[in-house]
Amino acid sequence: MSDEHGPRIKILKDGPYAVSGDVPLMKTTIVPGPDGAPVEWAEGAPIPTQPRYTLCRCGRSGSKPFCDGSHIDAGFDGTETASREPYLDQAVLLEGPGLNVTDVRGLCAEARFCVAYDTVWRGVEHTDDPEVTERVTRQACLCPAGRYVAWDKGTGQPYELEFESSIGLVEDPQLGVSGGLWVRGAVSVESSDGFVYEVANRVTLCRCGESKNKPLCDGSHCDSGFVDGL
Ligand code: FES
Repeated sequence: MSDEHGPRIKILKDGPYAVSGDVPLMKTTIVPGPDGAPVEWAEGAPIPTQPRYTLCRCGRSGSKPFCDGSHIDAGFDGTETASREPYLDQAVLLEGPGLNVTDVRGLCAEARFCVAYDTVWRGVEHTDDPEVTERVTRQACLCPAGRYVAWDKGTGQPYELEFESSIGLVEDPQLGVSGGLWVRGAVSVESSDGFVYEVANRVTLCRCGESKNKPLCDGSHCDSGFVDGL
């Protein structure tokens, strides 16, 4: 059954994420490379869902990743404080000889693809080397939060991987924690007060309840040691 509004996440006040539009859900695991820094994603099998389902946002559900109402007893405060400005209005431009990259630090979810081999910031300065250009582009495209976007200098178009609309439950075995919800492929996200956030190909939403930048994941799950137990 499809939803007339398409893939959509409605954030409920101090409550869960209400997902509609038959959005596939699966585990997405960060895979480290030889030097330990993340270099790719491993995608798990789809988790059975109904066309509409609710995902835990407070981190306390006994039925993770789904909501079981625990946010009520916990008195969860899900107040959304993330910026509502469009991505490009917040972005810093990093210009390189072969590639431009934009960076919005406030989107960081601590997935660390940007530090594999060398940082995106340093790498972009050396994009007169096609190998470095390819690596930096890949680093930007794999950032789940969409913090980094790589841009073709000739066409001015962004490089983006094509994602089916889907939600990944981030696992970070290197740190021994579970991360946020990796929302991919232009799923609409609406705040609890009815604001529709800029639709993006990649965004990470907090599911541990600890982010200081809700609804976005800000990496707080690393410090709190959030584990979903799945
Ligand atoms: S899941 Fe990352 S801060 Fe909550």
